[in-house]
Amino acid sequence: MKLIVEGPCRLKGNVKISGAKNAALPIMAACLLTEEECTIKGVPDLLDVRTMMDLLGVLGAQVERNGDTLRIRAKEIKSNKAPYELVRVMRASFLVLGPLFSRVGKAVVSLPGGCAIGERPVNLHIDGIKRIGGKVRMEHGYVIAEREGASGGNIYLDIPTVTGTENLLMASVLLPGETIIENPAREPEVVDLFKVLVKMGADIEWDGIGRIKVRGVEKLCGFEHRIIPDRIEAGTFMVAAAITGGDVVVEGVVPDHLDAVIEKLRECGCQVDVDGDRVEVRGPNRPRSISIVTAPYPGFPTDMQAQFMALLSVADGTSTIRETIFERRFMHAMELARMGAQITIMGDTAFVRGVEKLHGAEVTATDLRASASLVVAGLRAHGKTVIGEIHHLDRGYEKLDEKLRRLGAWVERRED
Ligand code: EPZ
Repeated sequence: MKLIVEGPCRLKGNVKISGAKNAALPIMAACLLTEEECTIKGVPDLLDVRTMMDLLGVLGAQVERNGDTLRIRAKEIKSNKAPYELVRVMRASFLVLGPLFSRVGKAVVSLPGGCAIGERPVNLHIDGIKRIGGKVRMEHGYVIAEREGASGGNIYLDIPTVTGTENLLMASVLLPGETIIENPAREPEVVDLFKVLVKMGADIEWDGIGRIKVRGVEKLCGFEHRIIPDRIEAGTFMVAAAITGGDVVVEGVVPDHLDAVIEKLRECGCQVDVDGDRVEVRGPNRPRSISIVTAPYPGFPTDMQAQFMALLSVADGTSTIRETIFERRFMHAMELARMGAQITIMGDTAFVRGVEKLHGAEVTATDLRASASLVVAGLRAHGKTVIGEIHHLDRGYEKLDEKLRRLGAWVERRED
């Protein structure tokens, strides 16, 4: 499947932001922790969400979707094995490790492979399980984690890993002792999972910033929860407004989750106005060049790096983008170069020399956010941009082409 984008255009109008993919996935996995029914509202219809629904089904849960609401009930776990073919398709499947460890006492989860943006090991997940008393071994590419005798412990995360923090939270909530997680990830999606676990009856002390203290409980109950809006989808539309010199209002967002993105857009010369759950972005004719360093939340999100590289490729001056989270997250640079961008990569830093014009070209998406950056570039580029492998896009953006058309873009999906 290809996406064809005709530019240049100026986006105008309002767009409603969908629920956060990276909140939905761990919260869906958390449903395995109870035999009661769980209701999750505001769940976007994405490939990754469908993969997680399939995985929960394989494990024995009943899963049904009604509009943007998922009802999930893991009355009994029929299998504790997350097979390679599903984990390979979506690394976030690894998030069932913690719940299965807690619920059935033994988790057999395929090691996720690497991906386009980096090696992405799971050593911190595994070390953490061992620190709380779990036994972990590897067999034929599977991680086998057993709970017998585990009673909690002190975990210090060298890196504030997002899914690592989520897995370890879910691995400790049913243990008979106390668990401390030092240096946890603080992304809004992790906080959303924390709120769900507390609704389920977990005994967790956390201010959303510092160390997490978990006291195990006997049982957890079902919950009803509306997930937070997707700050990365919102940020992507805000960058699309910026690069097209347009005027777009993103609706249904939590502006606090977008502080770093708003700051950088203002630095580029955008006018950004926040009003409740709406943020209006008016783009300049030509953005100013700036410097960006990605960092764990609340720093500048790595998931917005590719989109900003597209924006800065037409800036007035040379920008620097330092990617500190993933070691190979510049794959989009070479594709943007096919559209006329002048980007030099040196180690973990990209030097982006802004050009007057980008021109449409045939390009290929390599990962989810890289594909978003190519769409954003295509909105500004003169002529047609044909983006291949756009299944990457469908993993994380709900109806992106439809939403862009409603904002005045010329975007068309076409079979290969
Ligand atoms: C989550 O991935 C997100 N995915 C990613 O979003 C996001 O880019 C990333 O966090 C960083 O914010 C989901 O939430 C499903 P990490 P995750 O563990 O948890 C290293 C998207 O576009 N590390 O925080 O896998 C790792 O290699 C996706 O929606 C270890 O070394 O990221 C990386 O360099 C892409 N050992 C850094 O930590 C470990 O055990 C951050 O990784 C775990 C991680």
